[in-house]
Amino acid sequence: MAKLVICDHPLIQHKLTFIRDVQTNTKDFRELVDEVATLMAYEITRDIPLESIPVETPVIKTEGKVISGRMLGLIPILRAGLGMLDGVLKLLPAAKVGHVGLFRDPETFQPVEYYVKLPTDVQERELIVIDPMLATGGSAIAAIDVLKKRGCTQIKMMNLIAAPEGVKAVQDAHPDVDIYVAALDEKLDEHGYIVPGLGDAGDRLYGTK
Ligand code: URA
Repeated sequence: MAKLVICDHPLIQHKLTFIRDVQTNTKDFRELVDEVATLMAYEITRDIPLESIPVETPVIKTEGKVISGRMLGLIPILRAGLGMLDGVLKLLPAAKVGHVGLFRDPETFQPVEYYVKLPTDVQERELIVIDPMLATGGSAIAAIDVLKKRGCTQIKMMNLIAAPEGVKAVQDAHPDVDIYVAALDEKLDEHGYIVPGLGDAGDRLYGTK
């Protein structure tokens, strides 16, 4: 079973409280989400492999560590995932970015792809799927399906806030995908909102409500 990692760094927890706050305006909300995404990128890359290379300092020839292994790919789920993208790119500027857009079919309630644009070498990369809210897990599972159908094998999921229902759904569907969250909340309400949550992440990021 994949890991669920709660990124409980005090800076992340502090900023998340103001992200949750209904009084936080769009500009501050966007900036805080960006900052937390950067901090979470630090946690999510903690286990990426290193290799030693020779380096000559002004004093001596020695060895230093550099990142090795697969290159990274970031996969924001449209639209709210875009709110965390730049924050992650600040730490991982060489990562390539693929976009996955999904909507929920009003009759079947199943997620349907409306936009998929991925790096050509996506299956060779270690991927981080980004979406602020892991609610029912429907979009996350569908986005990971999109990637696996194209041959991707190394996938992590990054969310600001998750509901236990969403975590379980993703773990059941994709037991190989580790999930990184800033908070694991209590539950979903009858409208599919995470409780206590932060409301609609897309609307709060883009001021559409
Ligand atoms: N999507 C959101 O933006 N917020 C929720 O609480 C659940 C899903």
